[in-house]
Amino acid sequence: MADTIRPVLAGNKALVVGIANDHSIAYGCAKAFHTVGAELAVTWLNDKARPHVEPLGQELEAAIMAPLDVAVPGQLEAVFDLVRQRWGRLDILLHSIAFAPKADLGGGLLDCSAEGFAKAMDISCHSFVRMAKLAAPLMAEGGTMFAMSYYGANRVVPNYNVMGPVKAALEAACRYLAYELGPRGIRVHAISPGPLKTRAASGLKDFELLLNEAAAKAPVGELVDIMDVGYACAYLATSFARRVTGGTVYVDGGANIVA
Ligand SMILES: NC(=O)c1ccc[n+]([C@@H]2O[C@H](COP(=O)([O-])OP(=O)(O)OC[C@H]3O[C@@H](n4cnc5c(N)ncnc54)[C@H](O)[C@@H]3O)[C@@H](O)[C@H]2O)c1
Repeated sequence: MADTIRPVLAGNKALVVGIANDHSIAYGCAKAFHTVGAELAVTWLNDKARPHVEPLGQELEAAIMAPLDVAVPGQLEAVFDLVRQRWGRLDILLHSIAFAPKADLGGGLLDCSAEGFAKAMDISCHSFVRMAKLAAPLMAEGGTMFAMSYYGANRVVPNYNVMGPVKAALEAACRYLAYELGPRGIRVHAISPGPLKTRAASGLKDFELLLNEAAAKAPVGELVDIMDVGYACAYLATSFARRVTGGTVYVDGGANIVA
């Protein structure tokens, strides 16, 4: 497939947040952006994550690599300072991070603590709003922003628990950001991938059942992989999709249309 792909994002600068390893959705997105010609900035969570992420950044010839824990004051601003110094602009922002404390994720919503709910909302949703605020001034000629959601935002998915309301808020945030940034030529997408075997997913109870169900339900008859998500985002970042914004784009083999 790769040798038939044209560099439709050549000259684009993309900041990709959320690579933990080569199973991460963010890695698939970074790889797809790179394959179609974009230049990358990638981040790692902390010193423990760095040895896993840095080689992937090198493989993808990332021009900028930096630490980013969105819960650490100043780190997000530091990443955007680097982007400003190095590139002076940004075309693509991809937010592919989520977190909820184990005790709060593992129980039902009724048992989620206020602190756990706030933490999940801050890392998984509000951090995207903060990123959008810092990214928008660098997108003077327009741009595209992405945040990763999941079907549990709209329908109850057993064991998704607190992440359901958090992803619903994330999808709503994408709509409001798309509304506010549209006049500046900036488009905002919530991407809703089908279940993928990643580290974040391993925190969900009975995740294997979700995978089996998704494969059985999807009209295309197969699970999605991280490159499917990446190429869908790459398309949305091109001018071929210049009138598409604000919605939730499912990359799930069509599973969401089946009752
Ligand atoms: N795997 C799935 O089935 C699936 C399906 C739909 C949506 N998603 C969403 O995709 C996104 C990426 O998850 P993934 O499945 O690729 O798993 P992953 O574990 O590879 O990625 C999650 C990322 O979140 C980052 N992160 C957590 N806390 C952070 C913080 N404080 N600051 C900065 N980064 C932080 C981690 O470092 C990691 O890179 C998440 O938003 C997840 O909810 C996943």
